[in-house]
Amino acid sequence: MKISHKYKICVIGAGHVGLVTAACFSEMGYKVICVDNDAAKISSLKKKILPFYEPELEKIVIKNTKNGNLIFSSLLEQSIRKSDIIFIVVGTPPLSDGSADLTSIENVARAIADNLNSYKLIVEKSTVPVQTGSKVKETIHRYKKSDVEFDIASNPEFLREGKAIYDFFHPDRVVFGVEHARAEQILRRLYSTIKAPVIVTDINTAELIKHASNSFLATKISFINAVARICDLAGANVNKVAEGMGLDKRIGNDFLSAGLGYGGFCFPKDLEAFAYISKKLGYDFNLLQEVKRINEEQRRYFVEKIKEHLWVVKNKKIAILGLSFKPNTDDMRFAPSIDIVNFLLKEGAVIKLYDPQAVREAKKIFKNPKLKFVKNAYEALDKCDCACFLTEWEEFKKLDFLKLKKIMHYPLIADGRNMFDKNLLEAAGFKYIGIGM
Ligand code: UGA
Repeated sequence: MKISHKYKICVIGAGHVGLVTAACFSEMGYKVICVDNDAAKISSLKKKILPFYEPELEKIVIKNTKNGNLIFSSLLEQSIRKSDIIFIVVGTPPLSDGSADLTSIENVARAIADNLNSYKLIVEKSTVPVQTGSKVKETIHRYKKSDVEFDIASNPEFLREGKAIYDFFHPDRVVFGVEHARAEQILRRLYSTIKAPVIVTDINTAELIKHASNSFLATKISFINAVARICDLAGANVNKVAEGMGLDKRIGNDFLSAGLGYGGFCFPKDLEAFAYISKKLGYDFNLLQEVKRINEEQRRYFVEKIKEHLWVVKNKKIAILGLSFKPNTDDMRFAPSIDIVNFLLKEGAVIKLYDPQAVREAKKIFKNPKLKFVKNAYEALDKCDCACFLTEWEEFKKLDFLKLKKIMHYPLIADGRNMFDKNLLEAAGFKYIGIGM
C-alpha cells in the first residue's frame, strides 16, 4: 500500500479506536504520533506492551515503531504542533443521565487552539452526538491566539473490536463530514489507497450516521432476541427464522444472531447518547429505550431458563465459558457475563470461570472470593452441573464433547449464543438450553 501524500498525523487518544487508527495509518506509510495523557499507557506502548488484545495489532505496532512511522508520546502540545492532520479519538463515556461526557473533547479542542501554529485539519473520530463538531470549531475559534486557518471534519469509525485491523483497511464505507472542499480533498488523499465507497456530507450528518448505524444494529439484535422469545413460546427455531429473514436482501443476515444480546463499550453507550441527544433536540426516540430493555432482559431470561432445569441453583457447580462481550477481544465492558455471573452468585451457585483472553480484565470486575478462575475449559467443566457458554469463542466449538459428557456431573449445556447444534448434543445425551430454539 503506497501513500499519496506526506501528511504528518497526530492521533489523540490511544484507546481501541485511537491505537488501531494510529497503527493502521502508520502501516499505510504515514508518519503518525499517537498521544495519550495516560503516561503509564504511553510508557508501556513504548515498550510494545499493548493495553488490550486485538488480533494483528501488536505486529503492526512493532513493525512501525521500528521503522519510525509510529511514535508514542504523552506530550500533547508538541504533538499537535508537529502535525498536519489531527484525529480526535478520546473517550466519550456515558454520564449518569445517558448523555456523552464531552469533557475530553473540549480539553483537546482547547489544546489544539493553544497550539495552532500552522494550518491543520482537525478530524473527529470519537463517537460524538450530533453538533459536537460545531462546538469543537467554536471552542478553537474562542481560544486560538493566531489567525492561522483550520478545518474541522467528522470521519466516524465503524471498526469492530476483534476485527479492527481488517475493518480499518476494508470498510463498507468511509464517511467524510466536511464544511469545505479543502478538508474533503485532504481526506480523500489520506484514504486514497482504501477501496470503499466514500460518502461526503456535512459534519452534523456524518455524526448522525455513526449514532444511527450503531443504534440500528442494536435494534436488529433486540428485534431478533424478541423473536427468539416468541420462538421459545411457540416451539420454533430462531436460527432458522433469522436465516429465512436474512436471505431477503432488504433485511440481510448480519446481526440477526439471537442470544444474550449486545454488550461492549459502543452499543450500550451510543444508544443512550443517541436517545439523549434526540430528546434534547425535541424528539422522543422511545424505540431505543425498548431496544435497551429487551437487551437487558435477555440476561435474566437466560438465568431463568437455567433455573428451570436445575431447580435449586444453590451449591450447584456452574462453569462459565466466555467472559468478554464477544470473541477475539479481552474487553469486559458491559459484557453480558457480568450480569449473568452476578445473578448466579446471588442464587448461591458455585462458579468456575474461563475465557481464552479476558481473564486479566475479568479479575478486575469479579472480585468475589467465591469465584474461581481456571486455566482451561475442561478444568471449568470438571464435575459441573451446568456449562454456560456466554461468548462464542472458536475454541469452544472444538471441545471434545464425549469427554465433557464424562467429566460433567450433569450434562446440561446452556448455550447463550446458539453456537452449538441442539440436535447433535441431545442425540449425544446432553440436555440443551438455547435461546429461541
Ligand atoms: C460496534 C459496531 O459493530 C462497529 O461498527 C462500531 O465501529 C463499534 O461498535 C464502535 O462504535 O466503536 P463492537 O462494539 O466492536 O462494534 O462489536 P460488534 O461486533 O458490533 O458486537 C456488539 C455486540 O453485539 C456483541 O456483544 C455481540 O455479541 C452482539 N451481537 C452482535 C449479537 O448479540 N448478535 C448479533 O447478531 C451480532
